[in-house]
Amino acid sequence: MITIPYITALTTYFSYGLLFAFGQFRDFFRKIFDWWRGNNLQGYAPIVLGLEDFYTRRLYLRIQDCFGRPISSPPDAWVNVVERVSKDNNKTLKRTTNVSRCLNLGSYNYLGFAAADEYCTPRVIDSMKKFSPSTCSTRTDGGTTTLHTELEECVADFVGKPAALVTGMGYATNSAILPSLIGKGGLIISDSLNHNSIVNGARGSGATVRVFQHNTPSHLESVLRENIAEGQPRTHRPWKKIMVIVEGIYSMEGELCKLPEIVAICKKYKAYVYLDEAHSIGAIGKTGRGVCELLGVDTADVDIMMGTFTKSFGSCGGYIAGSKEVIQYLKHTCPAHLYATSISPPAAQQIISAIKVILGQDGSNRGAQKLARIRENSNFFRSELQKMGFEVLGDNDSPVMPIMLYNPAKIPAFSRECLKQNLAVVTVAFPATPLLLARARICLSAAHTREDMIKALKVISSVGDMIGIKYFPAEPKKPQLEDGPVKLD
Ligand SMILES: Cc1ncc(COP(=O)(O)O)c(C=O)c1O
Ligand SMILES: *[C@@H]1O[C@H](CO)[C@@H](O)[C@H](O)[C@H]1NC(C)=O
Ligand SMILES: *[C@@H]1O[C@H](CO)[C@@H](O)[C@H](O)[C@H]1NC(C)=O
Repeated sequence: MITIPYITALTTYFSYGLLFAFGQFRDFFRKIFDWWRGNNLQGYAPIVLGLEDFYTRRLYLRIQDCFGRPISSPPDAWVNVVERVSKDNNKTLKRTTNVSRCLNLGSYNYLGFAAADEYCTPRVIDSMKKFSPSTCSTRTDGGTTTLHTELEECVADFVGKPAALVTGMGYATNSAILPSLIGKGGLIISDSLNHNSIVNGARGSGATVRVFQHNTPSHLESVLRENIAEGQPRTHRPWKKIMVIVEGIYSMEGELCKLPEIVAICKKYKAYVYLDEAHSIGAIGKTGRGVCELLGVDTADVDIMMGTFTKSFGSCGGYIAGSKEVIQYLKHTCPAHLYATSISPPAAQQIISAIKVILGQDGSNRGAQKLARIRENSNFFRSELQKMGFEVLGDNDSPVMPIMLYNPAKIPAFSRECLKQNLAVVTVAFPATPLLLARARICLSAAHTREDMIKALKVISSVGDMIGIKYFPAEPKKPQLEDGPVKLD
């Protein structure tokens, strides 16, 4: 649970209130101006949505220089961030030819496979020559190459399931496969902080969706019990099937799923478990096999294992792994398999090669070193940030660590100050997080060296002092920022 310091909550609400009021004020004048100039299209409803459009124009666009910064290099430990200039107060930004070489704390490059790799890269280039960038065909037509079948066997074996299906996009894996697995008369019980691809897949499935408190097994149990007793809406018939959906590592929180407890509850109530390992597969566990390996859960107890290749493997696409029957069924029903062009062959080769390195099948121990490094780096960085007094979310071993910012003014301040000191960071705010809970999200990589981390910590510490986000100071004797001493919960 995040407990916001009282004054911080107040000032954050106040800031958003002020931004909102100013925005509305300016919109009011814009309306009059439009009316006066005859700019309105007669008879049409507005094409953009009201409040979303307002948020984009009046809040997001004010700090848009902090988002979507183009880079001109691989997302390695260091990146080239392209400098942009604006002649209209950041309303529009124009790329320059200047770049700033920054330490990268923003990419999901957990194992460092996103940059050139001595084992993967030559093989990817060969696959490009042997196959092509695209298969120009769906899997059922001409889009299944030998690489695709090899990849599916390799993934099934790696995650510890009898079979797997691979698609060209992680997002579509969730959003297109959930409707094939469950539909009307089914019940989905989803963690409140599940990724948008799960939310949209659940909505698109037509099943009834219930939400349980983030990572709270006891609440999951009460939701399950209540809904099983209640049955389907109106008819009260038993549910056709029940599926509980959770993530391995929650990407905005850096938290590990309480999988052992959740699996036990699902077994008790005969609900299927659907686990999205986008951020955990490859990154955690002794041999990189994800949250099941780390927490000692038998993969036989997780019915559907989903994951993406866009993080630890430095590629693209997603997978579903499960029993032979389920995968066979999905290959005949899932639109992402039947109607979408298959994953690009070089991307498939990258995944196969990365898995081989992780498993040591490349004949070196680089994979094991990477896994040891990401764990060491994550735990070192997290404990240093906490010592400095930042409010850091998430669990040990997780390479994702959000630093709470709260106040809307601190979002651009943190991002811009870090960039000035050659540190590329990602800040996230509403709608990706609740309005009050804006944060900077640090993602570490096995590619970071100790010196990199020490440099990053120095910069973050000085920026943290400057903008006042050390909410949990180590020595409470110093009066802290605007907040006064803050009680630790
Ligand atoms: C939990 C989760 N699932 C699915 C996805 C979508 O994957 P992709 O980015 O590979 O499309 C993401 C992306 O960040 C994610 O965090
Ligand atoms: C525009 O962005 C730059 C950083 O890219 C920042 O320093 C500046 O304050 C911004 N200007 C406004 C008006 O927000
Ligand atoms: C690029 O950087 C140089 C040196 O910092 C600066 O003088 C120049 O104005 C920059 N160019 C642009 C287009 O911003």
